[in-house]
Amino acid sequence: MENVFILSHPLIKHKLSIIRDKNTSTKQFKECLDEIAGLMAYEISKDFDTVVTEIETPICKCNVDVLAKDIIIVPILRAGLGMVDGIRNLIPTAKVGHVGLYRDEETLEPQTYYAKFPKEITTGTVLLVDPMLATGGSLVAAIDILKNAGAKEIIYTGLVGAPEGIKRVQEAHPEVKIFLAALDEKLNDKGYIVPGLGDCGDRIFGTK
Ligand code: PRP
Ligand code: URA
Repeated sequence: MENVFILSHPLIKHKLSIIRDKNTSTKQFKECLDEIAGLMAYEISKDFDTVVTEIETPICKCNVDVLAKDIIIVPILRAGLGMVDGIRNLIPTAKVGHVGLYRDEETLEPQTYYAKFPKEITTGTVLLVDPMLATGGSLVAAIDILKNAGAKEIIYTGLVGAPEGIKRVQEAHPEVKIFLAALDEKLNDKGYIVPGLGDCGDRIFGTK
């Protein structure tokens, strides 16, 4: 599949095995999510552009490479918040915007309740994060909102995706690169990813 990248590094796979386990505690779940988000950001950022700038070391002037563009992390609330710390540890200069969406439990369609972005959204690289790509409704809606706010370069990063969701996002926004830790089998009749990891927001925040 074009523009879909499964980051199957052994450390990512190992930590994902802990996250999937229903007996994993809230604390360990969040710790593993932070670590996976950092590992994924490291992989994804290898394609980021750099520019040469001059600085002065304690010894002499010298040309160094720095990131060319602002990086804006945009979590889809709530579960996307669980990936922000791990990425910020690696890219502390990143700004953070927010999109608030929840899935209507009957229709599975996303409902928007919040959107706020830094001004750099129009010129920077947007790293849109949400651990779960299920029907794809939330991700398509979040990308629509970002594009309406002027975002031009959007990359999506998540943990687990279903084929149905990937298809829907690619039909709506084919240019958006999709990075996942795993591609799962399917959705069940309640719209949950199989085998998945359950309700990610609830597992991050201990709400169930
Ligand atoms: C979950 C998840 C995604 C969405 C994915 O959020 O974090 O945002 O579902 O499903 P979709 O691909 O079918 O749209 P949820 O709506 O449960 O809200 P929460 O993060 O606040 O728990
Ligand atoms: N949202 C979740 O948190 N988990 C799923 O499996 C699907 C949507």
